[in-house]
Order: sequence, then C-alpha cells, then structure tokens
Amino acid sequence: MKSVVIEQPGRLTLAQRPLPQPAADEVRVRVRLAGICGSDVHIYHGHNPFARYPRVIGHEFCGVIDAVGANVDAARIGERVTVDPVVSCGHCYPCSVGRPNVCHQLQVIGVHRDGGFSDFSCVPAANAYRIPDVLSDRQAAMVEPFTIAANITAHLQPTARDVALIYGAGPMGLTVIQVLKGVYGVRQVIVADRIAARLEMAFANGADEVVDNQQTPLAEVLAQRGIRPTLIIDAACHPDILPQAIELASPAARIGIMGFSAEPCVINQQSITAKELSIFSSRLNSARFPQVIEWMAEGRIAPERLITHSVAADDVEAALHLFEHDRQTCCKVLLQFG
Ligand code: NAI
Ligand code: MN
Ligand code: ZN
Repeated sequence: MKSVVIEQPGRLTLAQRPLPQPAADEVRVRVRLAGICGSDVHIYHGHNPFARYPRVIGHEFCGVIDAVGANVDAARIGERVTVDPVVSCGHCYPCSVGRPNVCHQLQVIGVHRDGGFSDFSCVPAANAYRIPDVLSDRQAAMVEPFTIAANITAHLQPTARDVALIYGAGPMGLTVIQVLKGVYGVRQVIVADRIAARLEMAFANGADEVVDNQQTPLAEVLAQRGIRPTLIIDAACHPDILPQAIELASPAARIGIMGFSAEPCVINQQSITAKELSIFSSRLNSARFPQVIEWMAEGRIAPERLITHSVAADDVEAALHLFEHDRQTCCKVLLQFG
C-alpha cells in the first residue's frame, strides 16, 4: 500500500509499505478521504513537539472497514467510518472524568502513531464511528475538525444571548462560527482576521460582522459599535491575543483558548478577577464524534463551506504547499486515496 511518510523533519516520501494487519480490538480502514490540517504541516517541518519519526501523518479521515482484529465483530467489515484520532487508556484520572483527550497516556493517530494519509490504516475499533448514509464521504472527512469546535463550545456553553468574538478565520475559526450559529443560535458573531479572503469565508460560514484587525484596532471598532463581547474564542492563537481578549471582554464573559504557543503572554490577575472572567482551554476532542455526526445529519453545520480543494494523494506535496502558502483561495484540502 501507499503511505505518506514524514521520514524526518523536512523529508516526505510516498512510500510503499506492506498491508498492515489489524491487532486485537482494531479495525483496518481502507481510506477514502483525508483532510490536511495545520498540524500535518507542523509535523512535516519538525515543529510539533509530540511527533516521532518516521510518521504517517493525517488525523482527519474516513473510509471503509475492510478487516477486523480479534474481539471485533466481523459484521463491521464494509462499514463506512470516520476515525477519532484520540486514543486513550480509559482508566487514568482524566479518562475517568470524561476527558480522554488529555489522558496520561494520550496517543493521537497521525501524531504519536501512524495516521490516515495512507491507503489503509489500522485503528482501535472504538475510534471508528459509523457514518450514516445521509452523510457524504466529504462530510465524513470533516467530522474531526468540527469536534474541535464542539469541544471548546462545550466548555463555554454558548447561549443565544451571547455576543461572540472570534479571533482567526482559518479552519478552526470557521468551524467555531458554524457551531455558534447553527447549534447554539448565538445572536451576534463577530470575527477578526487580517486576510480579506478569510473574512469573506467568515461571512460565508455565518459570521454577522467581520473586522480586519490589522487595518483598525479591534478595541476601536468594538467601542465604535458599542460591542462588549460576552464570549471570546481565540482561534488564531498568538500569545498577544489572550491579554487583549481579557481587556475587551464584558464582565462575566467566558474566554476560550486553544493555542500551543510556548511564548509567555503577560496578563494580570486584576484584569480577570475584576470582571470575574472564566477562561477555558480546549485540546482535541473528548468523545464528540457522535454529537458532530448528528449535527451534520441534521444539517446544523455545513462542512462543504470549508472545503476548497480535493487532490489525489499522489500530489500530496503540492497539496501541502498549497495549503501552507495560499491563504487567499485555500482553506480545507482533502486528499483522495484508493
Ligand atoms: P490557520 O493558521 O489556518 O488560521 C489562523 C487565522 O488566524 C489566519 O487566518 C490568520 O490570518 C489569523 N490571525 C493570525 N493572527 C491574528 C490576530 N492577531 N488576530 C486575528 N486573526 C489572526 O489555523 P487553523 O487551522 O484555523 O488553527 C488555528 C489555531 O488553532 C492554530 O494555532 C492551531 O494550532 C490551533 N488548534 C488547536 C487545536 C486544539 O485542539 N486546541 C486543534 C486545532 C488547531
Ligand atoms: Mn486537525
Ligand atoms: Zn487515560
């Protein structure tokens, strides 16, 4: 079979590998579509602290089960599935309180172990979620990115009355917009980015207002429009953003962060406590696949709006280059396998 392997930082090969056999409790997925994510590019460039090499990347993928290991019902062969990349131990403290995404022994498929940019991928059977017939393969490949938005919003508990501010209109910001509008019915969603094409996409994904915060300081724009955000999500993840979000937030607001920057950011306790702000962080997803599949089946979220390209897996290098460098026309790129 063909696999996209990052042999070491900066070196990608399309390798021929032997067909893997599913171990006990695993299924083998014949991959159909796999989405490219920023973290795949980070692993390629050696910028992901968790990655070990050589590594088959890819953690947003769907396909069909074509073999099962011991303890797995053979009736699952032929099932169309999408794969949750979060592999957890099931018994540590975080696992025991429903937070497998921060398991002591967390393994992320496509990061800590081989992933979905491959003709076949063996994964724990419990991580392979059946796709209802009403969803296309393209939608199925988009479940994982929406689980990130499902996870952070589950922490933040948005309500219709919220005035939300989102930093960043990349794939993460766009999925968050869709969930805030389509699932929680948030009245007003304002999105800040500095790329005009991305702000257009924010509109197309349901934003009520957009701001180019490089042209005009956000504080100025919000003051002019009389807006005090009650819910802020940082989906751009620069260390300067959290201090500013704290500044702009309404009293009693909630702020959600999802960045992995190791740079310090300067905040003081008073600015948080005086307004009794709540700050939540979110990593990956804690068993949110069924929820997102349901949202898609109900038409509350529309993954097609993020997909700008679909490319044969053989052209993975060009696809990664496009994804990284063309922020005007490119958002989500799907690789086609099989
Ligand atoms: P992206 O790089 O495609 O999008 C980020 C957007 O933010 C860009 O459009 C950029 O122009 C904009 N931006 C940058 N600085 C800004 C600023 N100061 N104000 C407003 N906009 C600004 O990235 P993507 O894929 O959307 O991911 C966003 C972030 O989320 C990344 O840092 C990534 O590491 C993080 N992430 C976190 C996850 C988690 O589970 N916690 C999962 C996936 C991504
Ligand atoms: Mn991803
Ligand atoms: Zn655990």
